[in-house]
Amino acid sequence: MSETLVVSPGQPLRGEVGGKSLLRLPGDKSISHRAALFSALAEGESEINNFQISGVTQVMLEALNKLSVGWKLTGTTLHVEGKNLISGGMGKKGIEEITINCGNSATTMRLLAGALSAWGIPARLDGTPGLKRRPMQRIIEPLSRMGVNIDSKEGYAPLRIHPGKRPLRAIDYHMAIASAQVKSCLLLAGLMADGMTIVREPAASRDHTERMLRNMGVAIKSNEIPVNREDDSDFNSIYVTELIPNLQENLRPLKIVIPGDFSAASFLIVAALIVPGSEIIIREVGLNPTRIGLLETLIQMGAIISINNTSENQNEPIGDIKVRHSELHSGEVSGSTVVRMIDEFPVFSMAAAYAKGLTRVRDAIELRRKESDRIKTLCQEMTKLEVNIVETPDGFEIQGGKTPSANVVYSHGDHRLAMSLAIAGLAAQATVRIEQAEIIRESFPDFVPVLQGLGANIESGLVIDKQ
Ligand code: S3P
Repeated sequence: MSETLVVSPGQPLRGEVGGKSLLRLPGDKSISHRAALFSALAEGESEINNFQISGVTQVMLEALNKLSVGWKLTGTTLHVEGKNLISGGMGKKGIEEITINCGNSATTMRLLAGALSAWGIPARLDGTPGLKRRPMQRIIEPLSRMGVNIDSKEGYAPLRIHPGKRPLRAIDYHMAIASAQVKSCLLLAGLMADGMTIVREPAASRDHTERMLRNMGVAIKSNEIPVNREDDSDFNSIYVTELIPNLQENLRPLKIVIPGDFSAASFLIVAALIVPGSEIIIREVGLNPTRIGLLETLIQMGAIISINNTSENQNEPIGDIKVRHSELHSGEVSGSTVVRMIDEFPVFSMAAAYAKGLTRVRDAIELRRKESDRIKTLCQEMTKLEVNIVETPDGFEIQGGKTPSANVVYSHGDHRLAMSLAIAGLAAQATVRIEQAEIIRESFPDFVPVLQGLGANIESGLVIDKQ
């Protein structure tokens, strides 16, 4: 059984999502993953409000079950019984290998690999065929330098983790690609290292791990160091994160409210921009500067967006985003901005299709290593909508301004691609059908009812697949 979304152009989108509205925005996915896992490492009970309940966070909770970490979910409030990373002795000698299914979630696999290394727990990490295509050498290599042995299928899952002697060896690691998952994996392992762990990145990836671990009492510093580069990309700095472990003190438990997910909000933002007459407000959205490259890019392209009611919530900035339908013009995205909007390219390309002129995206080869090869799948599916899009090795170019055509398109097992194609359908010439759209439950299970609540013409139907 699979699900097809049927989306037709129609009336303007109006209303409010998030905050006290009945139309709920999910809690941030990245912060939910971290909150569940890090609170398992802490001493005592954590309370996590507005936890994202979705396919990918479910696998993290199931992983906690496998590790005998107690948790309870009441509505969207998650309580976790910490298992004391430092003094709890989880990884006692002779402990048996645990098998954990990470589903489709690369965040679960990469962060768990770091935490299990620190905990000293041998494990076999596996997942869906989609997850088995995601590169894992990027964590295997630095973890092995820290003394953790990992068997893999030539750098891909399943991974077998044989944690070494603790404390692990502290490393100073230069990452070729900015990645918050790799950085977080190494920082977690670094909690049990014999000195300062240093991670260097070519651009600032999302820093939720640093902010959360700081709240839990860990000494972490981040610095931007300018460098002289002669190539034409705009990676002008190195971002250095330093973590000093404290092998004497346990991590403090969390008591947090998770901000609304900016990446989920981005679908609604682009929908309101491209559907004539729309005006919406999305409340209490996470506005961490390492995540909001899309907002800055859209504003440069003429988007009428304002931010109000800003505040800080346990070290994470939040605010309300107001969006009105706008006449967009073309834009350019490259260098460090790519990292700050890495999950938003599928939906950004829908905005670019409506924007007048040529929009270029470069320095974005990482898009090929996401839930699908997003450069290829975006080009394939947008071409079906007769959008003028050209694939380049590290990005794409869109000649926008022509209303997309009606057609049947395919999710490629990629939740963000499925939702983005649905958004394009809201302002297309006629009905767009998105096949195998059940994948949207991975990160935004209420996507369809939220859009319906704003007035969108969107329906989902079950399809019995032919054998
Ligand atoms: C994430 C980091 C990003 C992002 C992913 C979530 C995280 O991946 O694409 O959806 O929570 O750390 P990379 O670190 O691989 O860029």
